[in-house]
Amino acid sequence: MIAKTLLRLAGLALAAAAPFAAPAPAQAQGNLVLYCTPQEEWCRAMVNAFEKKTGIKVAMTRKSSGELYAQIKAESANPKGDIWWGGTGDPHLQAAEEGLAEEYTSPMNKDLQPWAVKQWEQSKKRTVGVYAGALGFGYNNKQLADKKIAELKCWADLLNPKLKDEVQVADPNSSGTSYTMLATMVQLMGEDKGFDYLKKLHKNVNQYTKSGAAPAKATSMGETAVGITFLHDMVTFIVQKAPITAVAPCEGTGYEIGSMTIIKGAKNPKEAKLWYDWALTPEAQELGAGAQAYQVPSNKNAKTPKEAPDFKKIKFIDYDFAKYGSSAERKRLLAKWDAEVKNLPK
Ligand code: G6P
Repeated sequence: MIAKTLLRLAGLALAAAAPFAAPAPAQAQGNLVLYCTPQEEWCRAMVNAFEKKTGIKVAMTRKSSGELYAQIKAESANPKGDIWWGGTGDPHLQAAEEGLAEEYTSPMNKDLQPWAVKQWEQSKKRTVGVYAGALGFGYNNKQLADKKIAELKCWADLLNPKLKDEVQVADPNSSGTSYTMLATMVQLMGEDKGFDYLKKLHKNVNQYTKSGAAPAKATSMGETAVGITFLHDMVTFIVQKAPITAVAPCEGTGYEIGSMTIIKGAKNPKEAKLWYDWALTPEAQELGAGAQAYQVPSNKNAKTPKEAPDFKKIKFIDYDFAKYGSSAERKRLLAKWDAEVKNLPK
């Protein structure tokens, strides 16, 4: 009773003091729960800029694409997240198909690249492209010279027995990067040959990491001779003067459409839409470069970082997002990889 009275008095005192308190920001106030997949530095830069601009308080969790997809699914009866920003498109498409995403049409759509809009159309307005990135690999120049291995140019070169336990790539269950690789091999070589390739590669793999970009860091530190990641993740370390060569494989390669989804049943839908619209502006998309994230932005008016891999010089496959982002296909390929590749003896 006394405590309540005190609280009430304190409330009154606060109200009375309010006219003399510092003025609150004029912008909207509120909360947003953000699930974020790209590099921590980029997620943080986005959160800080958004909070400053809107006064909305953001609670951010960073996890890999496959992990966040699984979390959103597990939480679907009582959603905890509002918006999922970034990460490879396939699990976003799967979430859309499985009813885990809200439909939204942003006024920013008119400024987006065709590939970003196609992602939105294919998902029935439930996910949209925010950036693109090319898959490839990088090698540590010193490690390769020490092992007397010639320059690596092609996916086939990664099967060299001299690279035993020297290739690092993520686990496709947790990582969208690695799922992109799995789906790329199937599309590039056909399913049987693609799986043969992954089984042979397994002999050279030292570790299947949880996050897709982790092998880039390990390559930069010489903990592994080769890392398979998106090329821009290697560039982040090349810019920091790590002795890495980034390779767009000679046979051709796949790519990601990093995506964004409003979570079905989001508790803060208004704030989620504010984030969504803002994240599609040049102002927000150009924050990537400052955080050493060198993806290609989806807004046509946003500057592509000068460090970004030159897509015109990369041989791309015609990655079928509708098929490989479908729930049935993603589940099937992951189960097959678990059964036939992951636990193979070396
Ligand atoms: C890195 C890349 C992003 C990509 C993400 C996927 O952060 O820079 O372009 O979307 O990895 O993460 P994951 O851990 O799911 O492979």
